[in-house]
Amino acid sequence: MTSHGIDWSEWSKLDGWLTVSEGRLLYELSKKTTGRGAVVEIGSWKGKSTICLARGLGDRASIFAIDPHVGSEEHHKGGAEKVWTFDQFKQNLERFGVVDFVTPVVDYSDKVGQRWSQPIELLFIDGAHDEPSVQKDFELFWPHLVVGGWVVMHDTTGTWIPGLCGWKGPRKVAARHLFGSEEIGPMRVVDTITAGQRVAPGACFPRGAKRRLRLRKLFTDGLSVAINMANRLPSPMVWTIRKLLRRA
Ligand SMILES: C[S@@+](CC[C@H](N)C(=O)[O-])C[C@H]1O[C@@H](n2cnc3c(N)ncnc32)[C@H](O)[C@@H]1O
Repeated sequence: MTSHGIDWSEWSKLDGWLTVSEGRLLYELSKKTTGRGAVVEIGSWKGKSTICLARGLGDRASIFAIDPHVGSEEHHKGGAEKVWTFDQFKQNLERFGVVDFVTPVVDYSDKVGQRWSQPIELLFIDGAHDEPSVQKDFELFWPHLVVGGWVVMHDTTGTWIPGLCGWKGPRKVAARHLFGSEEIGPMRVVDTITAGQRVAPGACFPRGAKRRLRLRKLFTDGLSVAINMANRLPSPMVWTIRKLLRRA
């Protein structure tokens, strides 16, 4: 393992969607937890994010990794074969030496959320990506987040990849409940992650930084949607626009 506790080049080879910068952020936030609450992950897939959270935490406590391990709606499109990620998840945790620190909860987050009662210090939301599911995840688990704890949401920004405009569900829930909340103070935006720290109601914190971050995110989201839409235009139109831009 490296000075960051994870061999990032080995980690990058794992199947999943997290970038190294996103992985480092999860590791860093997990390392800063103080034991006042659990670390909870919604959506583990094959453990790429779980490993970062667990290595950050070390042997101080357990992380709860909630996933039915049968994939999300998008993994079943086009009659794809049955998904079962649990075996690979466990193998990856073993490979990175964290299997003993992770409590897998093989179930759907709404079922787990309805019976959840422990305080949470770090909440990572990366399960089902449709807006009602993301909203539900937020509503069920947020009340358990301690003041000073962080909520981290993946896939909340537009993407530059042609044909994809990011995920509307996480983006809208993050806008509403992180940027739009008086109970969220300091925030981080790293690649597609938006993260916010819970503050006590009525707490004083500098709002300027949050406003600037929101504006920057709105701009990059808008730009990415425009680029993705432009990429869907018929090719001759794209060529003409490119030609005009080159002349301008
Ligand atoms: C985008 S993947 C998670 C990726 C993972 N965080 C990583 O870093 O590789 C989404 C995961 O959410 C899980 N999932 C889908 N619906 C869920 C639900 N209702 N509750 C919990 N997990 C769910 C899927 O099984 C899938 O493994």
